[in-house]
This record gives sequence, structure tokens and C-alpha cells, in this order.
Amino acid sequence: MSELKGRKLVLGVTGGVAAYKAAELVRLLGKAGADVHVVLTEGGARFVTAVTFQALSGNRVWTDLWDPRMDNNMAHIDLTRDADAILISPATADVMAKLAHGLADDLLTTLCLARDCPLLVAPAMNRQMWEHLATQRNVAQLSADGVTLFGPAAGEQACGEVGLGRMLEPEDLCEAVIGFFQPRLLAGRRVVMTAGPTFEAIDPVRGITNSSSGKMAYGLARACAQAGAEVTLVSGPVALPVPAGVRRVSVRSALEMREAVFAALPGADVFIGVAAVADYRPATSAEHKIKKSGAELSITLTPNPDILADVANLPKPPFCVGFAAESRDLDEYAEGKRKAKKLPLIVGNLVQDGLGGDDNLVVLYDDAGRHPLPRAPKPDLARAIVAHLAGLLPEV
Ligand code: C5P
Repeated sequence: MSELKGRKLVLGVTGGVAAYKAAELVRLLGKAGADVHVVLTEGGARFVTAVTFQALSGNRVWTDLWDPRMDNNMAHIDLTRDADAILISPATADVMAKLAHGLADDLLTTLCLARDCPLLVAPAMNRQMWEHLATQRNVAQLSADGVTLFGPAAGEQACGEVGLGRMLEPEDLCEAVIGFFQPRLLAGRRVVMTAGPTFEAIDPVRGITNSSSGKMAYGLARACAQAGAEVTLVSGPVALPVPAGVRRVSVRSALEMREAVFAALPGADVFIGVAAVADYRPATSAEHKIKKSGAELSITLTPNPDILADVANLPKPPFCVGFAAESRDLDEYAEGKRKAKKLPLIVGNLVQDGLGGDDNLVVLYDDAGRHPLPRAPKPDLARAIVAHLAGLLPEV
């Protein structure tokens, strides 16, 4: 992935135990394409050495306001001049207090004061330090000053206590940074989606299902969340992690999926049906494992409800988006499904172009016609679909 390609980030690492996670964060940000320049405070250097960060970022590490390596001795200004953001991770209670008051007594705080780019802060501290009125005052001040806070999360802390104050995990922080640079096209919107295959039980261990990796749906859920939407992902069985900021409701069968969708629907602005819902389910599911007998076995199948069509048929439906995975005649079948299910937008693709893979080739169909998108990695396509969809939504 190269979602941070061309971005220069200054990463401030201050003196908290979570500093060890900053090393992994540098690796992930670099993998996403960012050019990372680490500024280590005196406290940060007590936990992880500059050598580690230099090796992982491929850039010099800065620690000193008076660093003679900078020709004009202006490290405190030059380092952020062409930066897209400063991210402080971990950010101690102390550095947050300094930032809130405009103190500038080391390289990192001076850079923050002299910056003309956004400041992102990932707090990491003991829960009582986090809850302290002074810290909360500083948090409020930083928010009022336009600083973006990522976390903290709740959980077990290095000191053995449990509560709010844990730094977000490096994967989540990297996702948050990627999300920060995305346009907030779905801010204030609630999105409900279906994902993955459904599994229709024949007996306790067997069933019929569809082939679906869930990658497109999960990628789209992630893109919606990064565009600012509140996302509920009703997902059949897939082996994928839940994207940051997405609420997943796990289901197995089409009937369970339908129930979970309708439970999540009130107040939704958008419904996106991406799941490969099984068209049929066994009319009955055996309570115990069916034994092999050598004789022919017939299973009576009964049709499943069409979840998307049912949602689109509500008296006041949300904006409904469908997916059509076809093996031929894409235009005809996709447009046919769009009309039959009364959808303002359908995303069509040929199964041979994308099933299970990391890339896909899709065409969008709406009332204005046919919009082919260039072949692209699924995360890029997800963002393009979000942009198109956002342009069709009624104003809020
Ligand atoms: O299976 P079909 O090609 O009709 O799927 C088209 C769209 O309808 C997809 O968006 C799919 O998620 C949705 N669908 C559904 N419930 C079904 C079948 C399909 O929501 N039972």
C-alpha cells in the first residue's frame, strides 16, 4: 500500500514506555509510503535509541535543539517546513502540558510552536494521569487549538493498572494517520454494510456457502470510516481484521444477516450490500451430524430473502448501493439488477477480474449512466467508490 506516498511526517517520540511501539509505527508509516523524520526527546531516548529509529526510518534522527548538523542551526524551523504533519507518539502528560501552554524548551516542543502543519498527538500515560483535571484541561485546550488526538485506548497499562491512557496500537495509529489525510466526504453520515459470504447450515458441521474473501467489503468499510462515516459492518464468516473505527456485527446465515441489518438500519443514511448472500438455504437443518449411508441424499433448498431489495423497498430507504459480480455481460446484468432492486447505484465487476485478489476492475452504474474505473488495488477502488457515492447523496 502506498497511501502515505509523498507525505513527510515528523514523528516526535517522548519519554513513555510506549516509545517501543513507536519503532513499529515508523516501520508501518514507511511501508505506507511516508518519509518519516524522528525527533527524539531526552526522555524518549531513555527508552529507545536514535540508532533504532534511524535504521527504521532511513533518515537522521534529531534530538538536540543545538544540533550542528543543520547548516543554519535552524533545525527547530527547517524540519517541519515541508512536513505534512507532526505526530507525537507516544505523547506524555508532560509534553501535552507544554504544548497546551506554548512552552518550547527542547527541539520537539520548539518545532511544534514554530510549525505551519497539523499536529497529531497520541497520548500514552497512566490512567490517573490521563484522568487528572490538569491533563483534561490540557486536552481540551489542545482540541480547541485544532490539535488532533488519536486515542488513548483503554486496557492494561505498563504499571499493571487497567483504564484509559494506553497508546493506540501502531497499526491503529498508522490507519488514523492515513485517515487524517483523506477528505471527510462522509462526515456525519451513518453507513450500514453487509460483507463476506453467508453460511447456510445443512447439519452442525456442514453447509453451503459462496466464495467471498470479504476484501472489497472490508476495504470499503475502511474507506467509509476514513471519510468520516459511522460504519456498521454486518459480516458473514471471513478471516479479516475489523478496520479501525468500524463496528462489526458477526453473523453466519442470510437470515441472521437480514436481522442484524434491520436492527442497525434506523437512522442510517447509506446501505451498501456487498455480501455474497447465499440465494438458497436448506429448508431444514439437521440437529445432529448426518451419517454417511451410501444412499443418495437430497437436500431441499428454499430461497433466502434478498436483503438489499428489502432495504431498498422500505417506505423511506437509505441511499442503497449494490454490488453485481458477474461472469459475463456485465453491463446488462448489473444495470438489470440496479433496476430490479431499485438502487440508485450499483458497482459491477466480472468475477474473473477480481474475486479473492488484491486488485479489481469495476464499473459504476447510476441514473447518469456507466462509469468505468481504471483497474486498481481494492483500497484505491474503495476510495473512488466512496467519492462517487458521496457525490450522489442528498445534502445534510
Ligand atoms: O446475488 P445478486 O447478484 O443479486 O447480488 C446483488 C446485490 O444484492 C449485492 O449487493 C448483494 O449483496 C445483494 N444481495 C442481498 N441479499 C441477497 C442477494 C443479494 O443483499 N439475498
